[in-house]
Amino acid sequence: MLIQRLRLQAFRRFDAAEIALRPGFNLLTGDNGSGKTSVLEALHLLAHGRSFRGRVRDGLIRQGESALSAYVEWEAGARMHRAGLRHAGGSWEARLDGEDVRQLGQLCAALAVITFEPGSHALVDGSSEVRRRFLDWGLFHVEQGFMPQWRRYARALKQRNALLRQPGHPSAQLEAWEHELAQSGEQLTQLREDYVAALQPALSRLLPDLLPAAGDVVLTLHPGWRRQELALADALLLGRERDVTLGYTSQGPHRADLRVSLRDLPGREGLSRGQTKQLALALLLGQAGHLAAAQGHWPALQLDDLGSELDRHHQRRVLDVLAASGAQVLITGTEAPAGLAAGDIDVAMFHVEHGRIRGPGE
Ligand SMILES: Nc1ncnc2c1ncn2[C@@H]1O[C@H](COP(=O)(O)OP(=O)(O)O)[C@@H](O)[C@H]1O
Ligand SMILES: [Mg+2]
Repeated sequence: MLIQRLRLQAFRRFDAAEIALRPGFNLLTGDNGSGKTSVLEALHLLAHGRSFRGRVRDGLIRQGESALSAYVEWEAGARMHRAGLRHAGGSWEARLDGEDVRQLGQLCAALAVITFEPGSHALVDGSSEVRRRFLDWGLFHVEQGFMPQWRRYARALKQRNALLRQPGHPSAQLEAWEHELAQSGEQLTQLREDYVAALQPALSRLLPDLLPAAGDVVLTLHPGWRRQELALADALLLGRERDVTLGYTSQGPHRADLRVSLRDLPGREGLSRGQTKQLALALLLGQAGHLAAAQGHWPALQLDDLGSELDRHHQRRVLDVLAASGAQVLITGTEAPAGLAAGDIDVAMFHVEHGRIRGPGE
C-alpha cells in the first residue's frame, strides 16, 4: 500500500495542508505543537474511523471552523484509490473512489494503516477492549467472513441486553436472541482463535529483534467464557439469571482478551515501560507482517515520535526490520531519530511549521 497524497482542511491546527508522500521512509520533523502527530492522526482516522487520541472526536475540527475534511490518494495492488472524509459536528460523510460510503467500515477495509504512538503501550497494559480492537481490526482486513458475524453478534447482544432489563424478560424472545448470539459468537471466536494462531509465527520472528529479552512469546485467546467446558449457548443459558440481576450479558466474545506470555520475562505488570512499548510495537508489526502476507502488500506504518519512544538500539532494530520489509513508513520527531543517524536508510524529509508541510526540495 502506497499513500501518495494526503490533504487536510480545518483539521486540528491546519487550515489547509497537503503532503505528497514517498515510497519507503518519510520523516516529518517540526517543533512541539507544529502538527506532526495530527498528520498521522488524519491517516489513522481515515483507515480506522477513529482517532488514536482518545474517544472524543471533537477537537479534530480546527477551532473556529464548522467542518473538517481529509482526503487521501493511495495505490494498492496496482490500483489507485481515493477517499475523503468530512466531519461536521456530529455527522460524518465519507466517499471512496467517487462513491458515497454508507458505513465508515467500507473505507477502513480499503485503506490499511497501522500506527505506533505514545499511547500504544495500552495494547499490552491497557484494558481488554484495546486488544479486542486490535484482533478485530486485523481480522476485518484478512477475513471477509468476519464483519458479517461481528455485526450479527453485536445486534444480538444489544437485543439480549435490552430484554434482560425488561420486566418479566420475555423468555421466548430471549431464547431466540440467545440462539443468534451463540451461533455468531462461536463463529466469531473460531475466527479470532485462527487469527491468533496465525499471528504467533509472525510475532515469534520479530521478537528476537524487537524484544530479545523475552525469549519467546505465546499468544492465547481468552474467548470470554469457559469455552473448554461449555458451548456459548449453554453458558448463556446458565448465566441468564445472573445476567438478569446484572442487567447485561456478563460473558461471551465481547469479553474476549488476548493473552501475551513471554518465556523469559514476567507478566505485563513486570515489564518496564520501555519493554511494554517494545512488545506493543512487536504486536503491531507482527500484525502488519501477517496482513502483508495475506494481501500481498504491506499496510502503511506510522511511528509517532519514534525517537522519544524507544532507545536508539531498539530504534535501529525497528528501522532495519522496516527497511527490509519495503513498507511505506511515516516517522515523526522534533528531529531525526538517532536510529536514522547512520544515513544508510533513504528518507524523504518533510518539515511541519506554521500550519504548512514542506516537502523534500521545497
Ligand atoms: N481543533 C484545533 N484547532 C486548532 N488547533 C489545534 C486543534 N487541536 C489541536 N490544535 C493544536 O495543534 C497542535 C498539536 O498538534 P500535534 O499534531 O499534537 O503537534 P506535534 O505532534 O507536532 O507536537 C497544538 O499546538 C494544538 O494547540
Ligand atoms: Mg506529536
